[in-house]
Amino acid sequence: MPGWPRGLLLSLTPLLLAAGGGEFDVGRSIYREGQGQDPIVARHREFDVDLEPRNRACARCHGADGGGTREGGVVAPPLTGARGMSPDGALEWLTAALSTGRGLGGRALKSVMPAYGLSERDQRALAAYLRTLPYPPEPGLAADSLRLGVTLDGAGLDAEATAAVGLLMQREIDAINRQGGLFGRQLVLADRDLAGVVVTMAWAADPAATGPRFSVRPPVSDRAQEIACGVLHPPVSEQARWLAQHLNERGRRVRIVEAEARDAPSAGEAEAIIYKGRDIALAAGMANNKTGDIFAFSDLVGGQLSSAAQAPLTLVTPIDIRAQMRRVEQLQRDEAAMGLSPRTASIALEMLRALAIVATALKQQGRRLTGVELCQRISVLARESWRFSLLPAGASPTLDQP
Ligand code: HEC
Repeated sequence: MPGWPRGLLLSLTPLLLAAGGGEFDVGRSIYREGQGQDPIVARHREFDVDLEPRNRACARCHGADGGGTREGGVVAPPLTGARGMSPDGALEWLTAALSTGRGLGGRALKSVMPAYGLSERDQRALAAYLRTLPYPPEPGLAADSLRLGVTLDGAGLDAEATAAVGLLMQREIDAINRQGGLFGRQLVLADRDLAGVVVTMAWAADPAATGPRFSVRPPVSDRAQEIACGVLHPPVSEQARWLAQHLNERGRRVRIVEAEARDAPSAGEAEAIIYKGRDIALAAGMANNKTGDIFAFSDLVGGQLSSAAQAPLTLVTPIDIRAQMRRVEQLQRDEAAMGLSPRTASIALEMLRALAIVATALKQQGRRLTGVELCQRISVLARESWRFSLLPAGASPTLDQP
C-alpha cells in the first residue's frame, strides 16, 4: 500500500489483522456448526449419549444470533451477555457452563444444556466469538457488512477535494477489507443514508469544534436518535485551560479573553493574553497594543497560519502542527497525481485518524455494538489522542498555501 501515512498504518494494521481472521472463524464454526479446530465431544447429560455436530451446535438452541430460544417450555438463554464481559470473564462463564454445568452465579444448569469437552484453544475461540454476538440487530450492521458514515460538509472543501478525501479513506477501507474486514464483516463507507450506519464521522460546520465529531446510533430497540461521542480535536475551552495552566506553572500572569470579545481588551497586569477565539485580526490588534504575549487558537488544519505568521502572536493548535506539516508534505508527494492542497491533505490525514480511532474502537468492542458502549470507547480513544502545540510567530507555517 504505497502512499499511506506510515504512523497510521502501523497503529491500525496489527489490530485489524487480529480482528479479521482465525479465532473468530473457529469460534463461529463451533457456535454454528459444532466443529472446531480440535475434536469436540458433547454429551447429553440425562441420556448420556454423544451428540452429532448438528445437534451440539450452540446455535441450535441459543439462536443464530445468540438471542436465545424458547421451545416447548425449554428456555435457552441469550448468550449475548458475554459481550459485556472481559475476555477472561467470558471464558470463565463459558467454561463453567460447558464443563461443570454451572451458569452465572454458580447456578446448576438444567440437563438440556449438554456437557462439552473442548480443547483449550477452541474454548478461547468460542469465548472470543461469543463476545461479538449481534443481537438484537443494529442499524448498519449486517451479516457480512458494517457501514460507517462520513460527512465532510463543514470542512469547507470543494467537490473535488471532498472526493479526494473520500478516495483516500476508501483506500484505507479497502486495505482493511483485504485483511478480512472486521469480525468477518466488510467495512462499507457511506456518505448518504446516515441513518443506516454504525458510526458517523462528521466534519461539522461548528465554529466551536473545527474537526471531525463522532456519533453513533443506538440499536433499533432504543430511541432512533444519534448519540454524540465527542470530537477528534480538543475544544478551544479545553486548550485554553491547558494553556493557562502551562503558563501559570511558568509563573506568568494570564488573562483570558472570551471569543465573543469585539474589541481588543487591555492586558492590564497580565503578561499573557489567551484569546479564546479564532479571529486572528482581533488577536493581532491586541498584540499591537500590548506588551504581553498573545495566544490565539488555530483552526487545526492551518487555515489561518500564514496570516498569523505576520502578527506577533502565538497560535495554539489542537494537533502536533509540525509533525502534521511533515505528514502533509509526504502525502502530497506520495499522491502527487491527486494534486492535494496542503489543507485538503491535512483534512484527509485527520479523517484517516478518525477512521483509525473508529476501527480500533469497533475492534475492542467486539462485533456486537450498542450505541452507548461504543460511544464511550470512541470518546476515550479520541481524548487519548488529543495533542496541543504552540506555534510562535515567524515559525514559517505552510499549511494554507494553495
Ligand atoms: C440442546 C440445546 C443446547 C445446546 C446445543 C447448547 N445449549 Fe447452552 N443452554 C441450553 C439451555 C436450555 C440452557 C439453560 C439451562 C438453565 O437455565 O438451567 C443453557 C445454558 C447455557 C449457558 C449458561 C447461561 C447462564 O445462565 O449462565 C451457557 C453459557 C451456554 N448454555 C452456552 C452454550 C454454548 C456455548 C453452547 C455450544 C457450545 C451451548 N450452550 C449449546 C441449551 C443448549
